[in-house]
Amino acid sequence: LKSEALEVLEKVATPKELADLRVKYSGKKGALTEVLRGMGKLSAEERPVVGQVANEVREAIEEVINRKQEEFVRAETNERLAAEKIDVTLPGRGLPQGGIHPINKVIEQMEDIFLGMGYSVAEGPQAESDYYNFEALNLPKNHPARDMQDSFYLTDELLMRTHTSPVQIRAMEAAKGKAPLKVICPGAVYRRDDDDATHSFQFFQIEGLVIDKGIRMSDLKGTLLQFAREMFGESTEIRLRPSFFPFTEPSVEVDVTFVKKNGERIWIEVLGCGMVHPKVLEMGGFDPEVYSGFAFGIGVERIAILKYGIDDIRHFYSNDMRFLKQFSRI
Ligand code: PHE
Repeated sequence: LKSEALEVLEKVATPKELADLRVKYSGKKGALTEVLRGMGKLSAEERPVVGQVANEVREAIEEVINRKQEEFVRAETNERLAAEKIDVTLPGRGLPQGGIHPINKVIEQMEDIFLGMGYSVAEGPQAESDYYNFEALNLPKNHPARDMQDSFYLTDELLMRTHTSPVQIRAMEAAKGKAPLKVICPGAVYRRDDDDATHSFQFFQIEGLVIDKGIRMSDLKGTLLQFAREMFGESTEIRLRPSFFPFTEPSVEVDVTFVKKNGERIWIEVLGCGMVHPKVLEMGGFDPEVYSGFAFGIGVERIAILKYGIDDIRHFYSNDMRFLKQFSRI
């Protein structure tokens, strides 16, 4: 029994086989157990002899079983370690990195320029009251100039703001008549418009407002020239054309020079502005006899389109990664 067992045991190849053999030899119904159980029938002289032999056999068998068991455990561990090995010298996998949207980048650049001129940044709600969006800007109900900005009304009194100019009223109210006031107000605006390459029902503006004693049109022009040159380069020129806005008087539209790829220099309109209308100053809590001011509203997309040579305003809103990725390093 012993030599047979030892021979078979040495040959086992799997943990399962070993477990089966353990049962066969030293299990409850195993061969060895049988022998030990049968000892009761032996004579007093035979018993110690057989017992000793049986114990030896058991020890020998168990020794082999344990040794084999250890071998299996060690082999399995080695196998697992080999499979789990990490090669720390392999190059890393690149993590996809997000970027700031080109519109936000241009807003940040514009904010930086105006912060450098001593402005602070203010924001206002996108769902705005009729009062702030129109009435306080000298656009009473039924005023024909309301047609300039076809709007999305939420209720009779609430609409998606059509420009960032309502924030100049809010800024004036917050200043409580204390000058100087110098703010820019960036944000999304909405107009009922059909989308095409140059129009969108939603776009971005930066409103600027300065109020103090003795503010003149030349201050406005100097400010905008400075802005245009910081944004587009030192050789940029600006041109003011008479225009109309109910909240400014006089009002102008401003063009900047833009050099096309073929070298041709053209004028492109980028903003509307003017001297704050006395009625608007008054509604904002400033005495028009004492204070004057200027305001401007810049179209952010226009600036971005010019600066980066983009051919369709819809690229900004379609979330096409091929477009957006081009701005990740700017
Ligand atoms: N709010 C005007 C517009 O959206 C722009 C503007 C702002 C004009 C401030 C004058 C002064 O068209």
